[in-house]
Amino acid sequence: MSKNFYITTPIYYPSGKPHMGHAYSSIIADIFARFKRLEGYEVLFLTGTDEHGLKIQREAEKNKKDPKLFCDELSKNFRDLTSILNLSNDDFIRTTEERHYKSVKDVWNRLVESGDIYLGKYSGWYSVSDEAYYDQDEIEEINGKKVAKTSLSTVDWVEEESYFFKLSSWSKKLLKFYEENEDFILPKSRRNEVVNFVKKGLTDLSVSRTSFSWGIPVPKNNKHVIYVWLDALTNYLSALNFPNTDDKKFQKFWPANVHIIGKDILRFHAIYWPAFLLAAKLQPPKKVFGHGWILSDDKKMSKSLGNILDPIEIINKYGIDQLRYYLIKEVSLGNDGSISMENLKNCINNDLANNYGNLCQRVFSFIKKNCSNKIPKPTNLSEKDNKLLNQLKNDMPTLINLVNNQNLNEFIKKVVSYSFEANKYFNDSEPWSVKKKNLERMQNILFTICEQIKNISILLNCIIPVSTGKVLKAMNVEPNMISIKNINNMECFNYSNELKNLNILFNKVENDN
Ligand code: ME8
Ligand code: MG
Repeated sequence: MSKNFYITTPIYYPSGKPHMGHAYSSIIADIFARFKRLEGYEVLFLTGTDEHGLKIQREAEKNKKDPKLFCDELSKNFRDLTSILNLSNDDFIRTTEERHYKSVKDVWNRLVESGDIYLGKYSGWYSVSDEAYYDQDEIEEINGKKVAKTSLSTVDWVEEESYFFKLSSWSKKLLKFYEENEDFILPKSRRNEVVNFVKKGLTDLSVSRTSFSWGIPVPKNNKHVIYVWLDALTNYLSALNFPNTDDKKFQKFWPANVHIIGKDILRFHAIYWPAFLLAAKLQPPKKVFGHGWILSDDKKMSKSLGNILDPIEIINKYGIDQLRYYLIKEVSLGNDGSISMENLKNCINNDLANNYGNLCQRVFSFIKKNCSNKIPKPTNLSEKDNKLLNQLKNDMPTLINLVNNQNLNEFIKKVVSYSFEANKYFNDSEPWSVKKKNLERMQNILFTICEQIKNISILLNCIIPVSTGKVLKAMNVEPNMISIKNINNMECFNYSNELKNLNILFNKVENDN
């Protein structure tokens, strides 16, 4: 089995400020990327910005800026966000880069060659804000304005010469592809939506525009620019040095293992993208995972409702691990989920400060006082010690499956329960009273609890890398030892080194700040 793993986030429109929804997609992808690395995979994790199209051109004009220079400035906000979110992305792609132009033009030429593109005339509804075409039955009128039913964004009537992609001829082949690839669209509920939509039959897709210029010119007819979605989706290939399909990167990482996206852009990824790729004689990705909406106090975040939660503000106040942990714990991955400051604070206090944080701190300070600050070597583990360690050990196949099936919520719940059990084990074992009667027993208890802290920290490392990194460093576990295979490897500690100092991991949050 190949030990390569390619995972992507959507590439974001840089025109607005990065918000919690963008942060959410990126954090999810980062957690999977980190987990696969912990499993020993060579991972390529890609994110970036989607910079062409009428929406960006208009924003640039409004700001009296050249669109490229405008995008240079704005894209930086998203690049900065990758470090603020502590993303482990290996690359950051911009659709205005030379490597991407080459790749999009090649895909275009492949589609022309296969006979899937023809010149025609488009007339229909278009939403600039979604950069999407809508059918008559997908729009409605609100306060005298025509809007798309799903996104409520304004649509305009457009009529222009346009190249078309013969999407209509792909309906059957797509349905066959979905059938042969059960897990291509996840979660299951979204798969059904897509299948039903395709079953109704697809119409040809307009893939070029003439009414504006900010895009990649159509080869041999630069009156047209390539439709921004055909342009954007191709970013996943561009990062692999496509069109050079002999390139090592392409060979290793295509087809992508999973595109992480929000449900709003499912149609583009689950219908258009595999159709383009199949027509271009390239393999479709293995999986598209469409997560739900982050809601703020039960409502969709929007500027007009004034309920936008700014990830950067929250990170500055509470910390990045705190936000990452909370989003994954609280929002069920495939569904919409509400977040609130109140719940965030409770989650920090209960799960992080009182549970995992407290466990590490009290164990380390006990070792400092009672064992010259060194983890004691085990001599003879009791049934109780083995029971604690074996439970997690026996659960490992389940835990790995949970993550690989995108069930992060169950995964976290389980790991939190180990941390809870470990705290309980420490209380019940009373190393402080055992100390006087049986020093050896106390040492075995302390080894056991340290071994379990190490195991829990490795499991949580993909979610809260900063804090678990500090804990493992304090225990002198070398970075290259942080891997799934070292869970339950009792040879990870160096018993002659003292524990390093560990400052408070998670500050408790008062309820009124
Ligand atoms: O659509 N909750 O870019 P975009 C959860 N450029 N996720 C959310 C969210 C919310 N409230 N709001 C946004 C584009 N997202 C295209 C993508 S990919 C080839 C091109 C996330 O800036 C979610 O992942 O509008 C959604 O799909 C994405 O941001 C849309 O970002
Ligand atoms: Mg959008």
